[in-house]
Amino acid sequence: MKISVSFTLLLLLGSVSPSENVESQQPFPQDIYAALRKMTASLVQLKADMMLLQREITDITLHLKAEVNKQKAEIGQQKTEVDKQKTEVDKLKQQLNVRQVAFSASLLAGGKGNKYIGPFRTDTTLIYKHVQTNIGNAYNSNTRVFTAPVRGVYHFEWFITGNNGAHAAGAMLVKNSENVFMAWEKLNYGNASNGVTLLLEVGDIVFVRLSADNVVRDKESKHTTFSGHLLFPM
Ligand SMILES: *[C@@H]1O[C@H](CO)[C@@H](O)[C@H](O)[C@H]1NC(C)=O
Repeated sequence: MKISVSFTLLLLLGSVSPSENVESQQPFPQDIYAALRKMTASLVQLKADMMLLQREITDITLHLKAEVNKQKAEIGQQKTEVDKQKTEVDKLKQQLNVRQVAFSASLLAGGKGNKYIGPFRTDTTLIYKHVQTNIGNAYNSNTRVFTAPVRGVYHFEWFITGNNGAHAAGAMLVKNSENVFMAWEKLNYGNASNGVTLLLEVGDIVFVRLSADNVVRDKESKHTTFSGHLLFPM
């Protein structure tokens, strides 16, 4: 468009330029008509150029709008991502707060000398009455069970000592209603132990169950014990 405008100006100037006036002094009306025709042609060209320009502007505007909308959508997506990460961080913070879980308990509340638990006609949950350590309070000595406060990997170990061999001493570690591992012996005051690592969900319970017709023994030196630790949350 610039080119045609300059061209039109040249034409207008040219028609009154001194050199032309000197060299070819054309008669009056024809001169004007020729100039008018040229101007008309230029105007038509100018109009066409303007329409083109307008179309270009419209195109550019549409393109910019589309670009802005795209960037808006991208920003929206990034916001969603940030929110998601915030939620993740909150979850991790929460997990950190309940990361310290460790307990150890032994069978007898106190007293001196051997005491025997059992035999019972059915499998019976052992109540570890002496709570030595209970960080995080996940072991409840009233309900006799350990309850996982956080999803994670836990390690448990349990030690038993039996009687004079008249009965076996067997203690099963139970997760919810699943029998996991057994510690068992039948010697003259024999000992047995076992350990296990478990992935627990929040609220899973773990406890030790004395087998039916079995006997465990303990005394002040504490031989029959149950311990558990959270290794790491997941
Ligand atoms: C079991 O351990 C106790 C000591 O903790 C020991 O007096 C006893 O002899 C052990 N039993 C056997 C069969 O080794």
